[in-house]
Amino acid sequence: MDEESLELDVVQLSKKHNRTIFSCGNAELDRYIREQARQDSNKYCARPFVLIDKNDDTRIIGYHTLSSAIVVLTDLPSELTKKFPRYPIIPATLLGRLAVEQQFQGRKLGTILFMHALEQALKSSITLASAVVIVDAKDSGAVGFYKRFGFKPIMDQPLRLYKPMIDITKQFSL
Ligand SMILES: CC(C)(COP(=O)(O)OP(=O)(O)OC[C@H]1O[C@@H](n2cnc3c(N)ncnc32)[C@H](O)[C@@H]1OP(=O)(O)O)[C@@H](O)C(=O)NCCC(=O)NCCS
Repeated sequence: MDEESLELDVVQLSKKHNRTIFSCGNAELDRYIREQARQDSNKYCARPFVLIDKNDDTRIIGYHTLSSAIVVLTDLPSELTKKFPRYPIIPATLLGRLAVEQQFQGRKLGTILFMHALEQALKSSITLASAVVIVDAKDSGAVGFYKRFGFKPIMDQPLRLYKPMIDITKQFSL
C-alpha cells in the first residue's frame, strides 16, 4: 500500500473491524486482538483503540489498549513520590498493549498510536484522576521503544515502565 495515500485515524475498536488477519510479529499481541479485545471492551476491562486508514476502514493497521490501574507508591522513586500525598496506592492509567501490523512497522505509526494513547490518558484523567501512565513492554526490546519517550522502569519490574501525568501534560495543549 502506498504510504502517502493513507488517511490515518484512531478510533475505538468495534464490530466492523477485521481482527482475524492482524499480525505484528508477537503471537500474544496477535491473539489478543483476534480473540480477547472485543470481550475486554464489552466488559469494560480494557478500551482497545485501532489505527485505521479511512479509505479501508475495516482493516486494523495497529492498536493499543487503555485501562485503569493502581501503582504502589513505594514502587516509584522517592524523588517523585515525595511530591505526592502519602497514600499507599495511587491511581494510574495502564497502556497494556501496543502493536503495529508487521508490514507497516518502522513508519512512525507506533509513535502515532502511542501519542494517541498518552493524549487519551491525559484527557480521561481530567474527569477520573490518574497520576501516572504505566506501560507493559512485551520484552526487553520493547522497553527500548518506551524509554525513547521518557518512560522509566518501575522498581523490580523491568518490563513495566511509568511516566508521571504531570510530565505528560507538558506534551499536549488541551
Ligand atoms: C514496537 C512497535 C509498536 C513500534 O511501532 P513502529 O511503528 O514500528 O515504530 P516507529 O516507526 O513509530 O518507531 C519510532 C522510533 O522507535 C524506534 N523503535 C521501534 N521499535 C523499537 C524497539 N522495539 N526498541 C527500540 N526502539 C524502537 C524506531 O527505530 C524509531 O526510531 P527513530 O525515531 O530514531 O527512527 C512495533 O514495532 C510492533 O508492533 N512490534 C511488535 C509488537 C511489540 O513489540 N509491541 C511493543 C509494545 S508491548
